[in-house]
Amino acid sequence: MRTVLPFNDGWLYCPEDVPDDAGRENFEPVTLPHTNKIFPHHNFDNREYEFVSTYRKYFKLPEPLNGRHLYIDFEGAMIAATVTINGHTFEEHRGGFVPFSYDITAYMREDGENLLTVHLDSSERKDIPPYGYVVDYLTFGGLYREVQLRYVEPVHTTDIFIATKNVLAESPIVVFDVQFANDDSQTRTCSFSSRFVDTDTSLVDYHSDWTDLTIPPKSRVNHRIEMSVSDPILWTLDAPVLYQWEVELRHDASDSQSIIESQCGVFGIREAEFRKDGFYLNGEKTPLIGLNRHQTYPYIGAAAPARLQRRDADIIKYELGCNIVRTSHYPQSRHFLDRCDEIGLLVFEEIPGWQHIGDAAWQALAARDLVAMIKRDRNRPSIVLWGVRINESLDDDGFYEEMNTLAHELDPTRQTGGVRYFQESRMLEDVFTFNDFSNTIVEPIHTPHLVTEFNGHMFPTKSWDQEERLIEHALRHAHIQDKQLGMDNVVGAIGWCAFDYNTHKEFGSGDRICYHGVSDIFRIPKYAAYFYASQTPPEQRVVLQAATVWSMGDRSGGGNDPLVIFSNCDEIEVTIGETLLGRFQPNRETYPHLPHPPFQIRGLGMRWGEDFGDLHIVGYLNGEAVAQQSIDAEGLPHALTLEADDNELFADGADMTRLVFKIVDKYGNRLPYTNQVVTFEIDGPADLIGENPFALMGGQAALYLKARHEAGIVTIRATTPRLPAATVSLTMRL
Ligand code: GAL
Repeated sequence: MRTVLPFNDGWLYCPEDVPDDAGRENFEPVTLPHTNKIFPHHNFDNREYEFVSTYRKYFKLPEPLNGRHLYIDFEGAMIAATVTINGHTFEEHRGGFVPFSYDITAYMREDGENLLTVHLDSSERKDIPPYGYVVDYLTFGGLYREVQLRYVEPVHTTDIFIATKNVLAESPIVVFDVQFANDDSQTRTCSFSSRFVDTDTSLVDYHSDWTDLTIPPKSRVNHRIEMSVSDPILWTLDAPVLYQWEVELRHDASDSQSIIESQCGVFGIREAEFRKDGFYLNGEKTPLIGLNRHQTYPYIGAAAPARLQRRDADIIKYELGCNIVRTSHYPQSRHFLDRCDEIGLLVFEEIPGWQHIGDAAWQALAARDLVAMIKRDRNRPSIVLWGVRINESLDDDGFYEEMNTLAHELDPTRQTGGVRYFQESRMLEDVFTFNDFSNTIVEPIHTPHLVTEFNGHMFPTKSWDQEERLIEHALRHAHIQDKQLGMDNVVGAIGWCAFDYNTHKEFGSGDRICYHGVSDIFRIPKYAAYFYASQTPPEQRVVLQAATVWSMGDRSGGGNDPLVIFSNCDEIEVTIGETLLGRFQPNRETYPHLPHPPFQIRGLGMRWGEDFGDLHIVGYLNGEAVAQQSIDAEGLPHALTLEADDNELFADGADMTRLVFKIVDKYGNRLPYTNQVVTFEIDGPADLIGENPFALMGGQAALYLKARHEAGIVTIRATTPRLPAATVSLTMRL
């Protein structure tokens, strides 16, 4: 039988390149995902993660081989891994963003202890994409994704690609393209069948017949099964229904005990098409509003466990109201993509790179990355476009024709794009994916035209910037999204970017952060995030957020005029102190195409003196009050708050959650110019990851809590001068 076992626990780590005979005392125990170094959230240099480290794992075979082959599967190691098993060294794997595997069968000790070593070079090697020139993001280091052990029989599947055809016809077709291998030196026979069920109701349950296969020695064969489905439930953004597929391989079809392998996964039935006048999901025109996402986090680099990865997808869909994300600029964690499939968040996924194209060997790695990315992710309904160019590189027709062809061969069901920053570029792909930094939307030359970046470095904005800048930042996003929604020859716009991120010295604000996010590096919203959130249909979530600190002297010249509010209410009522200002409508004149334009209220008529009172806003939908926000005119610290995103963690040594802390006014609004020091104490079996004490930036920040291998209650207590302490408790479950 095929068995896949997690292999993330019990690793030993040494932050140096040590030989196999170095004693265990040089190592510390770690669990994957693992970063080769923990950092402060800013003010550090990439050279600090650029070293060779050594990972070791001593292990006994968890199951006997029984004639099976044993593979070790790495989901991602940054950036070049040399793997040795019991003295046998495999060829170095180059590239940090795609999975790789080794057949370790021949080197295993069946009865004794085995030693697996990974010498991991995390330096920014010019021979490996994205490096070779400068890059505006950090790759960090470490075995930062999970590892599995995989036992397979001599006859096994090597690839299962599930596609759908004629989705909008009466009877769509589900196509299973399966590749089988026979590693044996004799011809082997087997039978296989495929099946799929609807995961929610199990009302749909399709089985193929059993097919007998004869596979010559040491060879691979492909087999296709097509099954037509009546009345399938389509995968949509609001109801992303997933079907479970199963592929079973038996020695003898009639003997259910003779299973060779049984695999399952999920897929969705949907049709996604970029046309000249728009993106169509299941035949329905769907304007795309999105943001780019880097996979990096404060403190832990790229080594985020499943929970944090999944949460980013939730933030982008539910907190930021986007319907598409671009995995800039590389394939991202399967956990992030799993969640995109589950919640209905579209994905534009692309190969690693940044402006630079290297030599032939470098290009071969880029092509390898493309193949690995598509093979890993082509069953995902969320993915609607493959990025087959190096982000913002110059044209290289030979290379890019090849990449485009490769993508189409591997996945005839999806269109391709390739991100560039100049319109004169040759359109070799299906969709012209364009980074538009004109501060508006340029008239397209090629269609379909998808804007894949805008804003970013054109207007870096920190959470504690003066409110005029934060408002301008938000309105720039609003302006561009409004403009694109009004253009029939633009299919969507994906802004730069969702979250602030760490970067190299050539970029960023001097503290090695690019403050380009609509949310900060901790994923805490700036005003621009409220703009995105406010585009959510109010039936899903009512949003009402004033873009102001509500003070009389923060803006140039003083006052609060115009007052900007992001909301999906159709009307809002504003009261200052005891004075009712009236009801206001969104600014449809300036933003005619946005579903929910910002409210911009002029003529507040406030003077210094007695007129300045608390701000009260009530949001109305169809005349009914549905939301409200108040902001204290006193502006004084009222409380320190501490909130965890989760109540429980798995005590698996890897699970993490975010702890957000803020100093707030009496209504709970963060006070952005409060830079007090907050100190944390922890009691119980978990570890705090982050700076402690933390000098607040913009009145807020976050730490992370990491589980150990121990169950129990964990309590974190935060203190700061002149305010009561804040505490939060979580349960660690085995
Ligand atoms: C683009 C680039 C992004 C990011 C952005 C900042 O040119 O593709 O990675 O650097 O600029 O605005």
